[in-house]
Amino acid sequence: MPETHPPELVIVLDFGAQYSQLIARRIRECDVYCEILPANTPAAEIARLKPRGIVFSGGPSSVYEEGAPRCDERLFTLGVPILGICYGHQLMAALLGGQVVPAASREYGQADLHVLQAEALFAGLEGDRVCWMSHGDTVLAPPPGFAILARTEDTPVAAMGDPARRFYGVQFHPEVTHTPWGKELLRNFVLGVCGCGGTWTMRGFVAEAIAQVRATVGSGRVLCATSGGVDSMTLAALIREAVGDQLTCVFVNHGLLRKGEAEQVREAFAEHLRFPLVYVDAADQFLERLRGVTDPETKRKIIGREFIRVLEAEADRVGEVRFLAQGTLYPDVIESGTSTAAKIKTHHNVGGLPERMRLQLVEPFRRLFKDEVRRVGTELGLPPALVGRHPFPGPGLAVRILGEVTPERLEILREADAIALEELRAAGLYDEIWQAFCVLLTLRSVGVMGDQRTYAYPVVLRAVTSEDAMTANWARLPHEVLARISSRIINEVRGVNRVVYDISSKPPSTIEWE
Ligand code: XMP
Repeated sequence: MPETHPPELVIVLDFGAQYSQLIARRIRECDVYCEILPANTPAAEIARLKPRGIVFSGGPSSVYEEGAPRCDERLFTLGVPILGICYGHQLMAALLGGQVVPAASREYGQADLHVLQAEALFAGLEGDRVCWMSHGDTVLAPPPGFAILARTEDTPVAAMGDPARRFYGVQFHPEVTHTPWGKELLRNFVLGVCGCGGTWTMRGFVAEAIAQVRATVGSGRVLCATSGGVDSMTLAALIREAVGDQLTCVFVNHGLLRKGEAEQVREAFAEHLRFPLVYVDAADQFLERLRGVTDPETKRKIIGREFIRVLEAEADRVGEVRFLAQGTLYPDVIESGTSTAAKIKTHHNVGGLPERMRLQLVEPFRRLFKDEVRRVGTELGLPPALVGRHPFPGPGLAVRILGEVTPERLEILREADAIALEELRAAGLYDEIWQAFCVLLTLRSVGVMGDQRTYAYPVVLRAVTSEDAMTANWARLPHEVLARISSRIINEVRGVNRVVYDISSKPPSTIEWE
């Protein structure tokens, strides 16, 4: 699908920061569309996109290091406002004639910022305020034309600006919640300095996406793989709005679904979308292909490939289908590897697809974060229970069974998972967490039950809070809830004698175990 962008675009140049996505999200929260591009994107290419502003992200390098990422210096001649953050701030200082030196000591954590000029970038942000720092180098002297806008005890140039050229730099991280007023600063940049109108809304997105889908698809037929999750349900609603009966929705049961899920999805579809749903039971086919497979990436690839096979067979059955609609999101695209971001895992709906496919992909949410898709779903009339569903990965329970996927293990995991979710719902915690589920480990440990020795599987309970799955924290669940889940799983699920709670955050772990 040809990708166009809304008229007001701000670009984040990614210098390898953990937080680039967060900067983009914060800017979008100001109703300004924002995209992330690699640091070395040529200035001419950026100029073609006619951005209203550019943000240089942070990054782990030192500006004087050999091979440290640089930007195209012609960016400074485009007349476009630029905000440098952390490494971006240092790079801007170094390239424009300021002085950057290694800091006497690495500054990490909260610092007291003293604002010297509460204008433009700092409009309405006068006085002393807490900010989040994480840097090894520091700007000692700003480049000619720049004034010092703020300092901390350890950082003499914590913020600098050249209002004439509309170039600004901040040493701290305004995008993280540890800088509580940081979003105000980003808002000042995109609305005040760049002059954006803040008109990018989900309602506008829906209208544009519908027009774009119509233009791409013409009178062709579209197949939409529907899993029952937020993304694919919202996608089905959007494509139906765009092309009506040219759409066929297919729900593939790959045998890796949760307890009762196949029925629930069909019911939800009938109730909320009131549109025919083709149901394909391909469980045996998938399980056969997964037999003996233990490597996580191989599992993902096999599932992705089988999925397309099933869909292509469906496409043949429907006849004259040329397009496949998928609910791929921005983090899926980023995490499956881009020129600047490393591949973490092959997301089933991105890198997991075969290289050669007959169907052309239609992915209207490729540039959206999950919460934005939820807002699109609400805009399209989907109910809160549906748009609030926890994410569930395309490869399903296959990536939650460590090791070979067998019918017995699937059954154990389904039962344990259902208990965990039931208890979280009963405790009123479901909507407070981003995602909760069980993972089955395929090693066994010794236990004792009714005076008998047991030798059975452990189940891992995973519950995380997150804004967009790019980073996540383990959820601080009340001990009583953990106790209930553990005792119910061990008592009710045969084959399990131990429950452990995963207390790892992302990074350095990921949300799923595979
Ligand atoms: P990780 O495990 O990478 O997961 O921290 C981030 C989020 O993505 C979900 N996930 C997937 N979603 N297809 C999907 O549609 C996939 O292949 C896939 N793998 C992980 C995961 O559940 C979490 O919400």
